[in-house]
Amino acid sequence: MAEQIIIRADADKATRYRELLPQAEALIASEADLIANLANITAALRQTFGFFWVGFYLVKNNELVLGPFQGPVACTRISYGKGVCGASWQQGKTLVVPDVELFPGHIACSSESRSEIVVPGFSGGNVVMVLDVDSQYPAHFDEIDAMWLEELMRIVERKL
Ligand code: SME
Repeated sequence: MAEQIIIRADADKATRYRELLPQAEALIASEADLIANLANITAALRQTFGFFWVGFYLVKNNELVLGPFQGPVACTRISYGKGVCGASWQQGKTLVVPDVELFPGHIACSSESRSEIVVPGFSGGNVVMVLDVDSQYPAHFDEIDAMWLEELMRIVERKL
């Protein structure tokens, strides 16, 4: 496997995503274990962007259960439709939340989180996981993050 990722720190966000994705694909290419791959994906995202919190929640027995992540400790279980993660699962779409305090039912795992993006991952047409990224800064995420994180999720899905 690739043992390091190389991203230009001074490049703009879109460029860093463009450089990261093929490297993320290479990072998980020769490993079949999902947890190992999700763990490295979260590390690669954290390393590239310094996100406050980045991690996966996996659908298990009709709830989301905390999977591999980087950042402060987080809540372990989220019900269908609850919080940003549960809403993304329910709606089957990416949710960009510029101000978490304005999102009805937002689950505050950390009081430092100000904005958030959640991207669902699918298998056989069903949501089987979500990728959640939190920032300490308001309005940190936009359609560029949404587009590239969705592309990254397509790479993850191909390994399911
Ligand atoms: N804020 C999320 C919960 C997960 S933590 O942010 C890690 C939500 O509202 O679903």
